[in-house]
Amino acid sequence: MSQRALLYEGKAKKVYVGDRPDELWVEFKDDATAFNGQKRGQIADKGIVNSQVSARLFTVLEQAGVPTHYLGTVDERTLRVRRLRMIPLEVVVRNRVAGSLHQRTGLAEGTALKEPVVELYYKNDALGDPLLNDDHVRALELAPPAVVEALRSEARRINQVLSRFFADRGLILVDFKLEFGWDQDRLCLGDEISPDTCRLWDQATLEKLDKDRFRRDLGGVAEAYRQVLARVMQ
Ligand code: TMP
Ligand code: ASP
Repeated sequence: MSQRALLYEGKAKKVYVGDRPDELWVEFKDDATAFNGQKRGQIADKGIVNSQVSARLFTVLEQAGVPTHYLGTVDERTLRVRRLRMIPLEVVVRNRVAGSLHQRTGLAEGTALKEPVVELYYKNDALGDPLLNDDHVRALELAPPAVVEALRSEARRINQVLSRFFADRGLILVDFKLEFGWDQDRLCLGDEISPDTCRLWDQATLEKLDKDRFRRDLGGVAEAYRQVLARVMQ
C-alpha cells in the first residue's frame, strides 16, 4: 500500500486513492484508541478482523437491499470502497443498555430496551463527538429533517438484519455505530461495522466480545476479536 497516495490517516484506518476517482482503498490498522483518543494501544490482528468482519456484514446488508460503500477486498486488511460525501454524524442504535446510555440514564447495564433507541452524535473529535438532538442537527445544518428521518429508518432496518445475523451465530448485538454518506444522490452506509464499532455479547454467557475488553482492561482482547471473526464467517 506504501506506493499509493495516502489521503487521510485516522485513529484506526488509513484511506488511500483507489484505481478510479470514485473509489478508495481503506486499510485497517491494529492501533486501538478509546475515550476520544486518551487511551491508546494495539490489538493483535485487529485490522484483519475488522476489515473481514466489515466485508462480510456489508455483503449481508447489500443482500438485504441496504446500499453500502463496499466494493471488494484488496488484501486481508484492506477494502475497496465507493468514495462517499460523508455526513458528519454518528448514528448509534441500541437494543440493550450499555456504555454511555447506562451512564446517562442509570438504567442497569444489559437491560433490554422495548424499542431500539437511535441516537445521533456530532462527528467532531475536537468537541468529543457530543450527543445531538434533531434541533441541534438542524441548527448546525448537518442534515435536513427528511435526511435525518432517512438515517433513522435505515439504521433501524440495518439493526433488524444485523441483530438476526448475530443471533444466528450466538451473539447479542447490544449496540452499534454507523456512518452514512452520499454516492451521487443515493444514501449509502460507509465506514466499518466491527468489534470496534459494535457491542457484541455471547448469548449464553453474556461475555463481552468487543472493544469494551480494551476500554475496560478486561484482558483477552485479541482472542475476543478473533472469536467474532470466526462466528461471523460461519
Ligand atoms: P457508547 O455507549 O460509548 O455511546 O457507544 C455506543 C456504540 O457506539 C458502541 O457500540 C460503541 C460505538 N462507538 C463507536 O463506534 N465509536 C465511538 O467513538 C464511540 C464513543 C462509540
Ligand atoms: N473510537 C473512539 C476513540 O478513539 C472512542 C471509543 O471507541 O471508545 O477514542
